[in-house]
Amino acid sequence: MTTELLLEEEQQAIMEGLLSQQKFINPKYFYNHRGSKLFEQITELVEYYPTRTERSILLTYAKDIARHIDSEALIIEPGAGSCKKIEYLLNELHPSVYVPQDVSAEFLAQSASRLSNTYPWLDVSPIASDFSQPIIIPDKYQNYRKYVFYPGSTIGNFEPGDARQFLQQMRELVGKQGGMLLGVDLHKENEVLHAAYNDKKGITAEFNLNTLYHINQILEAQMDVSKFEHYALYNEKQQRIEMYLRSLIQQDYNILGHKVTFAEGELIHTEHSYKYTLDGIAEMAESAGFYLEHSWLDDNQLFSVNYLRAV
Ligand code: AVJ
Repeated sequence: MTTELLLEEEQQAIMEGLLSQQKFINPKYFYNHRGSKLFEQITELVEYYPTRTERSILLTYAKDIARHIDSEALIIEPGAGSCKKIEYLLNELHPSVYVPQDVSAEFLAQSASRLSNTYPWLDVSPIASDFSQPIIIPDKYQNYRKYVFYPGSTIGNFEPGDARQFLQQMRELVGKQGGMLLGVDLHKENEVLHAAYNDKKGITAEFNLNTLYHINQILEAQMDVSKFEHYALYNEKQQRIEMYLRSLIQQDYNILGHKVTFAEGELIHTEHSYKYTLDGIAEMAESAGFYLEHSWLDDNQLFSVNYLRAV
């Protein structure tokens, strides 16, 4: 397929979101270069507890976690990116093989070679692939016990049915001897969650608004980013953060031959970030062929790292 066709398909997919009754932008459009930098800044905000809390859980309990992982292990990390988080565990887990997967081939190759240099005993075998392609472990590694490492509460971005489906795929991948180490953000008081997605410095707002710059580029559109604002709330009943961009005024655009209108106050949905209870995690695990064997939490029970054993 030519790049032209791919671009057109991508434009079509974005347009579909802008022409829907409830407008939406796929959360993958957060992460262009600027967006990834902004996300990095988010992880350092006082209000945004998930990243540092997960790091502290992984470092504190690395030895404990290692007791659940076979000594001849192969660890697969979907969307590994910088491969930074596995480093919290490598010395204690001492796996044989690490298979980071990511869409960005160049970035992944850099991360993988950095890791190989720091841990010469580790066999690093990166897979550059699209999210839509299944991860295939090379035959020569078939005798290792397989584990998936999926930190960051990325699972929270999936709708519950899609989360289950993803876990089922991971269960297929690791087989009945394997397991999964899953970072999941926990349900908690509204105030703490609200603050985490409405930081005082406005970085989350910039991060959210950045999707408009990003899709403007792809669509060759001129939507006025200054005429939208960040809006995030915790929907307690659905146990999810809902993120939107809100149109400050009534505004109309012609984008790729389509008339796109925003009413004053109209919302464009950009992200769901589901929060789970431990019961909810156990239930999700079971529905995907896993058993929730252990959950490690921080003292304030903000975040969880979970070991799911295949059954
Ligand atoms: C990367 C999906 C875990 O849901 O908290 C941070 C993304 N969005 N602030 C999250 C995000 C707004 C983040 N995840």
